[in-house]
Amino acid sequence: MDIGIERIGFYTPNSYIDIVELAKARGQEPDKFTIGIGQDKQAVPAIYEDAVTMAAESADQILDDSNKKDIGLVIVGTESSVDESKASALFLMDLLDLPENVRAFEIKEACYGATAGLQMAYNFVSTNPGKKALVVASDIARYGINTPGEVTQGAGSVAMLISSTPQILKLENKSAYMSRNVGDFWRPTFSKTAFARGKFSNQIYIEFFETLWKRYQKEFDVTADDFKAMLYHIPYTKMGTKAMRTLEGKISDEKYAQLQAEYKYSIQYGREVGNLYTGSLYLGLLSYLINSAVTPGDELLLFSYGSGAVGELYSAKVCENFKQYIHVKNVQSLLNNRKKISISEYESIFSQSVRDGESVDPSVVTGEFYLSEIKENERLYKTKQ
Ligand code: COA
Repeated sequence: MDIGIERIGFYTPNSYIDIVELAKARGQEPDKFTIGIGQDKQAVPAIYEDAVTMAAESADQILDDSNKKDIGLVIVGTESSVDESKASALFLMDLLDLPENVRAFEIKEACYGATAGLQMAYNFVSTNPGKKALVVASDIARYGINTPGEVTQGAGSVAMLISSTPQILKLENKSAYMSRNVGDFWRPTFSKTAFARGKFSNQIYIEFFETLWKRYQKEFDVTADDFKAMLYHIPYTKMGTKAMRTLEGKISDEKYAQLQAEYKYSIQYGREVGNLYTGSLYLGLLSYLINSAVTPGDELLLFSYGSGAVGELYSAKVCENFKQYIHVKNVQSLLNNRKKISISEYESIFSQSVRDGESVDPSVVTGEFYLSEIKENERLYKTKQ
């Protein structure tokens, strides 16, 4: 039985900042941010947006009355949770009008959460072939104003419908994974911004990739030549390049050059929105499928990494007519119709939040779903009429 991604949706907030303007405001060389880090723009979420509203936005694009009734599992992968107890997935029940006969919950493991959800969805569909699973990655990457991590912030979500009728990508159930207790990145419950040992994190990311790639080749008897592209978790687009460099000299120069060329297609959208945390790998996948010349039957290798740390390397095969099932125009218009805001506007938004007893004026909302108020410390969401 084939199992994989039947539909994929993407959302990013309507406002962004220009990375060159950020560099100038922070007294940095613009080339450091655009070349050294590899970013062009950074999404800035509005105060009425969070992991729930963004998850609803991307999931809404891929759901209809017909596929909703077959959903048996709803997983939100996020490290930007809005509640220490209640799962983000439950807020989606009303916002997306989902049937009650589902298991709905949240998974947290830094940027690995969506991959954990995807693998769980694979297992769910393999034992329930008539059912579908909704897996949504949704995050706001926040390090803080004037921190080294600031240039690697971003926001957005990617939703995937997993079923036994994949139209976009077949998951092959070939995977190598590892976990280790590492202090490279963390966000204590009291803090809205993450703490990172950035360079240490880069080192662990690369080490995990090298270890898993060795293990994957041995276990599944493959070489780099078996893959059209290698897609990476991209907290910033230079990161994947660094992991890929470990292949230089170990594979043919021709294959290395080809993988580097393919990687560029996978980072086009990441350069435009910044870090999606757990959605980053999957935005890279979407970017690759839309912008490259990949063809049905091509094999892709995906590297997922979540600080803390969990890594997973797995393969997937591109489906026939995959492009027909991706809302290419929606993705492009979402990215092209955003509003650039100044660095001081971004700094002001960064410090604001909706507090208990406050409500949001719906006329300022640009998307479909929003945090409408906080009442008795409960977050209440609405769909824009
Ligand atoms: N032109 C071109 N490149 C330049 C440059 C210039 N003028 N000035 C610096 N650079 C390059 C550096 O050589 C470096 O490249 P390299 O990494 O290939 O060596 C890169 O820009 C970054 O410079 P660096 O001095 O290392 O930046 P930094 O100390 O500000 O830190 C991060 C960068 C990524 C470590 C920091 O943004 C961070 O901690 N981000 C959070 C990342 C994280 O932890 N994510 C979670 C893990 S997945």
